[in-house]
Amino acid sequence: MKGYSIGVVGATGLVGRTILKLLEEYQINVDNLKLFASDKSKGKRIKLFGKYYYVETLYEGCFKGLDFVLFSTGAKISKIWAPKVVKEGGYVIDNSSCFRMKRNCALIVPEINLNDYKTKCKIIANPNCSTIQCVLIVKTLDDLFQVKRINYTTYQSVSGSGQKGIIELKRCLNHKNHCFYPYDISKTVIPEIDEFLINGYTKEEMKMVEETRKILHKKNLKISATCVRVPIESCHGVVVRCELVNEYSDQVFRNKLETLENIIVLDDPVNHIYPTSVIAKGNDNIYVGRIRKDLSCKNGVLLFVTSDNIRKGAASNAVQILKGIINNIN
Ligand SMILES: NC(=O)c1ccc[n+]([C@@H]2O[C@H](COP(=O)([O-])OP(=O)(O)OC[C@H]3O[C@@H](n4cnc5c(N)ncnc54)[C@H](OP(=O)(O)O)[C@@H]3O)[C@@H](O)[C@H]2O)c1
Repeated sequence: MKGYSIGVVGATGLVGRTILKLLEEYQINVDNLKLFASDKSKGKRIKLFGKYYYVETLYEGCFKGLDFVLFSTGAKISKIWAPKVVKEGGYVIDNSSCFRMKRNCALIVPEINLNDYKTKCKIIANPNCSTIQCVLIVKTLDDLFQVKRINYTTYQSVSGSGQKGIIELKRCLNHKNHCFYPYDISKTVIPEIDEFLINGYTKEEMKMVEETRKILHKKNLKISATCVRVPIESCHGVVVRCELVNEYSDQVFRNKLETLENIIVLDDPVNHIYPTSVIAKGNDNIYVGRIRKDLSCKNGVLLFVTSDNIRKGAASNAVQILKGIINNIN
């Protein structure tokens, strides 16, 4: 099988470093690898596939000959540099929010809509971390009972803000002044992630609304979200509340979840068994528990989902998209 030329932009960041680990873990056949980061990291040496690779900064023509470039920097860098990859003939898989809602870019969770990339341009967007872990569960409910309305409430770890979030939590735990979040994250949860919009929601909340609709191809689905930062280092938890068109059957839902790869039901509350960040950290599973009927409506279900935001919420989903496209090509 052909080996591929791959670039990783943001290779020294939380998501980028995990992408590199996953290229090995998912046995991607890499012939040629180019690593990019900021000036700060220029010349850093990273060992992968038994070889050393040196980190470069971005320059005109740096993507020549690359089949796939995975971006994990931020929207500003993706906006400028991703189109240059396409000009050179390669695919982009982008972790930022830059292209997610662009009509001509696919927004993919491979278990749901991998083939969307076939009818769009060569820039593929990776969804927001909280969206990825919820949408697979929502899709299952929708297939079984038809989802009418969704409400998300997130409990998002500081690593969702990248390296800066982890440094800030450590600084606050060491009784130093906070300087990244608006409050001392070691002492409070913060119901503010990303900028506030004029509708009173934050950008992060609207990402969950719009991205869920796009991935499920349901542009009129009623959704609202509240996103909250919590003082833990990794993994996001989300309360998902779905109102359904058809009558909910707990047994049918649980039986279906048991058949899905990488979805693990942990739901024995009396014995304190439910999804926790400790269990989710470092793997690609999505953990579901506290599944129960929603008492506030006729036909609804409430549950709690946890997953590793750096893995399935970002790097793993990106590498799974890469693997999916490679499998389709071969
Ligand atoms: N963390 C999450 O849970 C998560 C989940 C989903 C999506 N994302 C998205 O993934 C992206 C990366 O997040 P992260 O958490 O990995 O952030 P991070 O830890 O702060 O890493 C940022 C990376 O971008 C690089 N970078 C910064 N400026 C650059 C420049 N001018 N040219 C080239 N590279 C540059 C950094 O290089 P240096 O090390 O040299 O500074 C670093 O490798 C963001 O768009 C984020 O929204 C993150």
